[in-house]
Amino acid sequence: MADLSSNFVGIKSPNPFWLASAPPTDKEYNVRRAFQAGWGGVVWKTLGAEGPPVVNVNGPRYGAIYGADRRLLGLNNIELITDRPLEVNLREIKQVKRDYPDRALIISLMVPCDEDSWRTILMQIEDTGADGVELNFGCPHGMSERGMGSAVGQVPDYIEMVTRWVKQYSRMPCIVKLTPNITDVRKPAEAAKRGGADAVSLINTINSITGVDLDLFAPEPTIDGKGAHGGYCGPAVKPIALNMVAEIARSEETRGLPISGIGGITTWRDAAEFMALGAGNVQVCTAAMTYGFKVVQEMITGLHDYLDSHEMQLSDLVGRAVPNVTNWNQLNLNYVTKAVIEQDLCIKCGRCYAACEDTSHQAIAMKPGRVFEVIEEECVACNLCVDVCPVEDCITMRELEPGELDIRTGIKRGDYANWTTHPNNPMSKAAE
Ligand SMILES: Cc1cc2nc3c(=O)[nH]c(=O)nc-3n(C[C@H](O)[C@H](O)[C@H](O)COP(=O)(O)O)c2cc1C
Ligand code: SF4
Ligand code: SF4
Repeated sequence: MADLSSNFVGIKSPNPFWLASAPPTDKEYNVRRAFQAGWGGVVWKTLGAEGPPVVNVNGPRYGAIYGADRRLLGLNNIELITDRPLEVNLREIKQVKRDYPDRALIISLMVPCDEDSWRTILMQIEDTGADGVELNFGCPHGMSERGMGSAVGQVPDYIEMVTRWVKQYSRMPCIVKLTPNITDVRKPAEAAKRGGADAVSLINTINSITGVDLDLFAPEPTIDGKGAHGGYCGPAVKPIALNMVAEIARSEETRGLPISGIGGITTWRDAAEFMALGAGNVQVCTAAMTYGFKVVQEMITGLHDYLDSHEMQLSDLVGRAVPNVTNWNQLNLNYVTKAVIEQDLCIKCGRCYAACEDTSHQAIAMKPGRVFEVIEEECVACNLCVDVCPVEDCITMRELEPGELDIRTGIKRGDYANWTTHPNNPMSKAAE
């Protein structure tokens, strides 16, 4: 039986599912209910420096992107860090941690970029009993204009400097939360590592405008006729987050740096994918905001069943797919496939035909009676028909046997060979 208990940079939790710093972790009431539902840990909603509380907008703070069935695919927000007084948060954190000693409780922090502010807040949170800190260098709106959040996260030198202060003034594990609003996410990760971070977490939200009201001519969500960019999250951002996690996991400079994976995780499968790409644990926000705290139960049972069916432990999963993430020039150009349509499953909608005929390689024929057939001589195996077909597994890709003739190119399938040795590559050895 797989054991889901997790030890992330020395922080123990009964499972690897943490709630990310956001409204679900904004107060004691929420966090207690989250723990009762089964979450292994929480990163408390970001705390700021002592003083007058943060002020949020009083109009709508969210915008959404939906799929055709109105399932929420992407969420945009213009919320700031916690707007509740620091001392209230600290008191609640202490009480919750006392009552749930087996759960992970991490405090997210964002204070001005000077040594005094960081030393002060670290002293203030010292006796809460929290298990670690997460530095919020990711928030892309509101706080960044004040020189915090992504304004720090976009400058590797600042990340390194602040991380050093945190390691100097606190004995707690330090997780640096990265912004995706940057060209190369490896640079801030390297800076965090240089500064002594125990781990990085990513991604925070992506700069976004979800839509424009075409009567008001203003971005949504609209506040009195105006809108501002916000932070995008939810299922739509998962591919971006997965790539960034993989980049850090396989980079020589950051390999081995623990990663907490965040971004669009809704099911156990999403979580397992992040872990396979190197995340030691995962954090979730939008799925909990959309479906409630009990989504964690599907994550726990699903991951359990998956690990058991593959006779794996959690540690066997973490990073397992990283060696298979490579650069394009290493892909096998002699791996040849062809689309195959399963006629019994086809509902004759014609989407594959329209896609291939108009935008791909004219490799699907429409025969009388709306029978759709692949023309192997033309099929370049692009996969577009598979992607647009509304019926799962109706179109699949068949791999040619070694030595089998590709009737499109007239070449028999050969052994592994990539672009670096291809005769058309002016830089290749073969071309010399
Ligand atoms: C309304 C809202 C508020 C958020 N506030 C914070 C915050 O205070 N601190 C922080 O580090 N991240 C904050 N986030 C970002 C989330 O922690 C998380 O990184 C992001 O939503 C991606 O995860 P998801 O796709 O599971 O939502 C917030 C996200 C949302 C939707
Ligand atoms: S894989 Fe691409 S080229 Fe082949 S039939 Fe499908 S859409 Fe056409
Ligand atoms: S898209 Fe799929 S279901 Fe529709 S015609 Fe093509 S194979 Fe059939």
